[in-house]
Order: sequence, then structure tokens, then C-alpha cells
Amino acid sequence: MDIKDRIRRFPPQRDYLLNILHDLQQHDHRQHLPREALQAVAEYLNITLSAVYGVAGYYSMFSLEPRGKYLIRVCKSPVCCTRGAFPIIEALKEKLGVEAGETTADGLFTLEMTECLGGCDGAPCMMINEHHYGGLTAGSLNRILNRLKGVSS
Ligand code: FES
Repeated sequence: MDIKDRIRRFPPQRDYLLNILHDLQQHDHRQHLPREALQAVAEYLNITLSAVYGVAGYYSMFSLEPRGKYLIRVCKSPVCCTRGAFPIIEALKEKLGVEAGETTADGLFTLEMTECLGGCDGAPCMMINEHHYGGLTAGSLNRILNRLKGVSS
């Protein structure tokens, strides 16, 4: 399904702007909102491109830059921090060779920090794309990353 077909699934009303942007980003293989998508949304909703950019740029959940196939979002809120998030974050940086906000050279992973993911019972935790991971340890982190890389552990 191309971008225009995807957009046409929503009513042509500005109230649906966030829903449309979510849907487009979720189905973009680099998990971002390319200019052509924002242009198509502006035309469909009959609003200016700058208005669409304004919304896409305001919310941290949207990215205007291409991201990795796997978007790793690590919780840095208090409960996770007191239960070991910092060593997990440092381990991720070391294993991936990137800082927060960066994408690995192979385009596989983007590392981001986020506020509470709503899984405090299982702290420390992270999300990779739509999948939640809790009770993280160095060992479980290795297994998760290796599985996504297609490496047996
Ligand atoms: S503080 Fe990390 S999930 Fe709530």
C-alpha cells in the first residue's frame, strides 16, 4: 500500500492528522516521516505543509530523520533508574556503538531514551518497535540483540 492509499483510509479532516502521521511512521521501513509523506498529508487534509511539519516536529514520538529497522526506546524514568536502567543503557551504547539518538551504521538499530513506558513492575525495561521487554539484565540484553541480528546465542 503506498502513502496516498494509506492516507485515504482516514477521513479528510484535520482531526485525524495525528492518527495519519502515526500510521505512516509505523509503516515506514525507516520508522520516520519523509517529506513526501508530509506533503501528501498536507494535500489530503488541505492544510499547509508547514502546519504538518509543525505537528510532526512537536511530538517526540515522530521522527523526521530515518531511523533503524529496530527502534530501541529505553526507559530512563525513576523506577527503572533505581532498578538498573543506567547499566543497561551503557551496555546498549557499548554493544551498538552509538549514543542516544543515533542509528547504527548498518541501519539496524536506533537507540533512544524515553519516559515511563508503563511497565514499572518489570523495571528496568525498554521497547523495541512495538514489543515490550522487562526485567532486563546484561544476559537478556545479549539474547535480545543477538536474536534481532540473526545471531544465535
Ligand atoms: S519507570 Fe520505567 S517503565 Fe515506569
